[in-house]
Amino acid sequence: MDQIIVQGNGPLQGEIPIAGAKNACLTLMPATLLTDQPLTLTNAPRLSDIRTMTVLLQSLGAEVASLQDGKVLSLSSHALDSHRAEYDIVRKMRASILVLGPMLARDGRAEVSLPGGCAIGARPVDLHLKALEAMGAELDLRDGYVYAKAPSGGLRGAVVEFPLVSVGATENALMAATLARGTTVLKNAAREPEIADLARCLRRMGAQIEGEGTETITVQGVDSLGGATHPVVTDRIELGTYMLAPAMCGGEVELLGGRIDLLAAFCEKLDEAGISVEETPRGLKVARRNGRVRAVDVTTEPYPGFPTDLQAQFMALMCLAEGTSTLEETIFENRFMHAPELTRMGAQIEVHGGQARVTGVEELRGAPVMATDLRASVSLILAGMAAEGQTTISRVYHLDRGYEHVVRKLRGVGAHIERVKEE
Ligand code: UD1
Repeated sequence: MDQIIVQGNGPLQGEIPIAGAKNACLTLMPATLLTDQPLTLTNAPRLSDIRTMTVLLQSLGAEVASLQDGKVLSLSSHALDSHRAEYDIVRKMRASILVLGPMLARDGRAEVSLPGGCAIGARPVDLHLKALEAMGAELDLRDGYVYAKAPSGGLRGAVVEFPLVSVGATENALMAATLARGTTVLKNAAREPEIADLARCLRRMGAQIEGEGTETITVQGVDSLGGATHPVVTDRIELGTYMLAPAMCGGEVELLGGRIDLLAAFCEKLDEAGISVEETPRGLKVARRNGRVRAVDVTTEPYPGFPTDLQAQFMALMCLAEGTSTLEETIFENRFMHAPELTRMGAQIEVHGGQARVTGVEELRGAPVMATDLRASVSLILAGMAAEGQTTISRVYHLDRGYEHVVRKLRGVGAHIERVKEE
């Protein structure tokens, strides 16, 4: 297994290109199942989660070709020879559940393994299932699988009110609704930019959708969808992560393709902490010019609130801030696994349930630490870059799920970071 070794760093300088969004690409790829025409996704990120979705779609009979070094994905599902998403693939990645809605909408049946729990909490899929049931699907849960059948004549439009905001459930319901008979109204829908991106792609394929990016999405079902070419929206989580690098180490870094509108709540917190963020013709320029950052409180919320996927990284910043901050996690119940690892580096963090109190220290010290999930692992890299001495991070396969070329991108702005084979 590989390790990442980081040496404490001085100020950073240079530019980092931001990739297409993992979470958008993982919902755009299953949209191929809605049509027998080709779907081409440009600006795709090169990540292991994308390869997992590729294998899943291929196991259903879709053709998926990775072109231009993985930046372009060409997908075609003219005939599916299986409607079963096997446990062996689904267990690797929760987003696999996103094949359920499209398969059911197009072919009237689907069998999908239920994703297991994962390190950051139980993460059930009840909201996905309830939305599809409201559209007339008959569901049978047995042997760890959901066996789904559409009524004769296909799924029906319905009013679906989500009791809590779910990104994945909104995406599954939205895809299913495009081919349902009649009108579907999704209330209390998630408003994430990745959902707006999915809606834009589906519209290019011929879907009739209004209201994406708001709490209510209305879909007028159509008989069939066609092909399209669609660019994947910028990865706001990768963007926010790399914005924190100069915030922690000092210096000035330009994030190519960065946009404030994707991360407004996060940018406000950076501003409060004393970090300057400036729009440039090519993206965003981030700098820490004066002394230590200030402690600021953060509560994670569905979009447009502060993203849970940036909480671990922001905690790394707060470890070095002047004063005490409270970070409250409201989306996932067990998402502070990075706290004990940061503590090994000299951070002062107390976790009580969904709240972490971080008292900033003047200096972190390098240490051997362990990556526990995707975002936690990158928070340890950031902390290592801002620490004195050497940090060794093991279990870095988590990183490959969500950060393409992380070592190359950070070295490009002057970080002392390398990936080595564990001895
Ligand atoms: C997506 C993102 C993930 C991000 C999360 C929240 C992808 C591939 N992943 O995950 O990176 O951290 O949004 O922004 O896009 N819930 C239920 N029942 C359900 C579905 C969800 O109770 O059927 C709960 C979850 O346990 C969680 C909350 O709802 O507490 C939000 O989860 P959700 O928005 O669905 O997250 P994902 O779509 O899994």
